[in-house]
Parts: sequence; C-alpha cells; structure tokens
Amino acid sequence: MIGPQVASGDKSTENIIPDTMRHTGPRHVAIIMDGNGRWATQRGRPRLFGHHAGARRVREVVERCPEIGVGYLTIFAFSTENWKRTQTEVAGLMSLFRRYITKEARALKEFGVRVRFIGDRVRLDDKLVKLMDELEQLTENNDVVHLTIALNYGGRDEVARATQRLAEDVAKGILDPAKVDQETLPKYLDTCVLPDPDLVIRTSGEARISNFLLWQSAYAEYEFIDTLWPDFSADEFTRLCEAYGGRERRFGGVTV
Ligand code: IPE
Ligand code: IPE
Ligand code: MG
Repeated sequence: MIGPQVASGDKSTENIIPDTMRHTGPRHVAIIMDGNGRWATQRGRPRLFGHHAGARRVREVVERCPEIGVGYLTIFAFSTENWKRTQTEVAGLMSLFRRYITKEARALKEFGVRVRFIGDRVRLDDKLVKLMDELEQLTENNDVVHLTIALNYGGRDEVARATQRLAEDVAKGILDPAKVDQETLPKYLDTCVLPDPDLVIRTSGEARISNFLLWQSAYAEYEFIDTLWPDFSADEFTRLCEAYGGRERRFGGVTV
C-alpha cells in the first residue's frame, strides 16, 4: 500500500515515504501531444503539415529526459478514436509513423532509448507492425530512457482486451477468479512492465484525457497547457517537471 507523505521528523505514522522522495521530479511522464491540426490551420496549411512538425518535437523531449531524471516517457500518437478522421489524414498519419520509425531508429538506439508500443496492433497494417516489432527488438537492451508510443491506443480498449485475456486464463484454470484484484488486472494491460505515470501533460488547452491511460493515471498529477504540440519545447518540459516537484501527492491519505 502506498501511504501518505509525512512531515520531516515524524516517525509515528506507518507507511512513511522518505523525505528524500518528497520533492523529486516525476519518474514517468505521459504526454497527450495535441494541437497539431490547429497549428497547421493557423498557418494556412493542411493538418498533416502540423503532424509532421509535431513528430519533429519528440526527439528533443526524449533527449531531455535523462538530464532531469525522467526514466519513462509515454506519448500518445494515435487513439482508437482517431480512425474517425478523414481517410487522407489517417493514411497520412500511418505513413508518418512508418517514416518516423525508419528515420529515428538509429538515433533512438544510439541514445540508449528503449522503445515500446502500446495499443491494439490488429488494425494496423502489416508493414507498420513489422517496423514497430523491429524497433522494439533493436532497442530492447537499452535503458537510458523508456519511451512508450501509444499507437491505436485507447484506455477502454486496453482494459477490455486485458479482461478478455484474464477471462481466458480463468477458463483455462490458470487463474482463480477469487484472486482477481487490483494487482492482477494491470498484469494484463499493455503497460504491464511500466510504472504508473506520475505526471500527465496535455498540450493545446483541452482539459480532458481522451481515453489515455485510464487505469494507470488514477493518481497522476495533470498539467493542461495552452502550447500547441509543435511549439512544445524541452525547456517547457523541464519547467513542468520541476513544478511537479513542488506538488504534494497524498494518494488518499493525509499529510501529518
Ligand atoms: C494531435 O493533434 C495528434 C493526433 C491526434 C494524431 P490533433 O490532430 O488532434 O490537433 P488538433 O486538436 O486538431 O489541433
Ligand atoms: C488525443 O487527441 C489523441 C492523441 C493526442 C493522439 P484528440 O485530438 O484525438 O482528442 P479529442 O478528440 O480532442 O478528445
Ligand atoms: Mg486534437
């Protein structure tokens, strides 16, 4: 159980989180990279122009992570609801993802980034899935930064797929239904090897989570900022991570 943070010197409460952890930065940051379309429209350009500009912002943010102690970065690239967009935009995004993986693979590997993808791969085309698998394999021994890319990802879809696999294990007799609890379900989620996000950032001024990491963000801190994703910088990222250090997380407890 995660207990409340307590004031320094007080040893009378159980579940004491050490002082040294009180003002540290976030270990896992998740970003809803929003606003590419509006950024392009403001410039009189097609929405895909904004997506290309947005993809170019990712490297700088990833490379800032080790300096500021962020070990895990998870970015929302395409949601299970984004298929509702025009065929032109969806096809353009899929082609951008293929290009991004091909172009960035070497730099990611050399920087020590371990890449993982979360989301349902079934609806993605074979060529893209192959590139995703290859990038995961190429970087599997890295651990400077754990970059997770959410692609055809939806929190509800993830929980539904996890539940299906869990039910299969029950049917096979591998899992006792009486033992299913909040420690069991996350083992079936796409994020099973990742810690929960400490900080979730959404750009573009929208204050909603749009089906991102629903289970995992139960106690995350949120930052909704006005910057459109293609204007987001590593310095802004650093500032948000520093501001997180000043927040008090209680996890339902009280600070003594
Ligand atoms: C986020 O930017 C990227 C994706 C959802 C793929 P948007 O494309 O949603 O940009 P806005 O919200 O229309 O400005
Ligand atoms: C969320 O942004 C998904 C991604 C950033 C990939 P959207 O632009 O799709 O979300 P809504 O439609 O504004 O909720
Ligand atoms: Mg949007």
